[in-house]
Amino acid sequence: MTTPPIDLRSDTVTQPTDPMRAAMMAAPLGDDVLGDDPTVNALQDKIASLLGKEAALFVPSGTMANQLAIRAQTSPGDQIIAHALSHVYEHETGAAAALSGCSFALMHTPRGLFEPDDIDPLIRPHDHHYAQSRMLVVENTMNGGGGVVWQMDQLRAVTERARKRGLIRHLDGARLFNACVAGGYAPADAAQYFDTISVCFSKGLGAPVGSALIGNTETIDRARHFRKMFGGAMRQAGILAAAAIYALDNNIDRLAQDHAAARTIAQLVNDLPAFEIDLPAVQTNMFYASITDPSLAASSVVGALEREDVLILDTAPSQIRAVFHLGVDAAHTDVIARAFRTALA
Ligand SMILES: Cc1ncc(COP(=O)(O)O)c(C=O)c1O
Repeated sequence: MTTPPIDLRSDTVTQPTDPMRAAMMAAPLGDDVLGDDPTVNALQDKIASLLGKEAALFVPSGTMANQLAIRAQTSPGDQIIAHALSHVYEHETGAAAALSGCSFALMHTPRGLFEPDDIDPLIRPHDHHYAQSRMLVVENTMNGGGGVVWQMDQLRAVTERARKRGLIRHLDGARLFNACVAGGYAPADAAQYFDTISVCFSKGLGAPVGSALIGNTETIDRARHFRKMFGGAMRQAGILAAAAIYALDNNIDRLAQDHAAARTIAQLVNDLPAFEIDLPAVQTNMFYASITDPSLAASSVVGALEREDVLILDTAPSQIRAVFHLGVDAAHTDVIARAFRTALA
């Protein structure tokens, strides 16, 4: 049997482990559209309480969680303030416009982080000529910025300004647990500053499918209506919710290992002549490397690494990304290091 490649394309590639599969098989199930899947209900209660909020809704994907937050809390014509690198703007197929009729006002600050004063100029005056500024989206960790972590005082400052200016605050917390482990804060500490939060179970936490939208009861009831409209209401979804419960119980603390592996390999790749990495931005489970040799295309680096059984993504013509997760164990570090050296040679 050949060994499978080491897959660093994303933390979404993980396979459920044997104990996670056992938890899925053992889960009591019901019809979640009728509201009686006990495992889905248990997951929703668990994640709402972990984030210190009233209610939660289990949904198929992070994209759906973000888009429900937008649909449930905006009206057509509203404007959303977000970073130009944010997932909700850049990687969700223009869904905010298509599904909610919203446009964006964008920030272009380094690493996807910003300050309260960066928000103000994007807020439209209350005047009938303008779109109404309705929502601020913060992403933590900030994938497009290299997986960087928002510190608690930064979160407090930007959300406080947004609140004063009358904006709804949504946190795209697809990797909130990575942020918490790296930033040394509890999920509820970060969540307290937001009206709604989306989290993903299928990224660093290692579940095969699923995300949640968390907020107050009224907003989550509205989101449930739109989940049905968007085709995201599932039936015996407890089989998936069981994996998410297992992930919350077992896979949070171990995220620190992924962060350490990302740092080790990033340092090593940064030492190779053709690559440059913003090392201080390597704060969680990923790194982006710029290729400084103009004769070397990112796609060739991807191909050369693939021949060494290591899979990564080219995220721009001269940029690559590697993401670490529970499918990569400590013994892989040497293999990955060797693959990068050989591929470059
Ligand atoms: C920051 C962020 N938000 C949302 C999503 C969307 O998640 P999904 O792929 O489950 O739709 C992703 C996916 O990678 C992400 O990185």
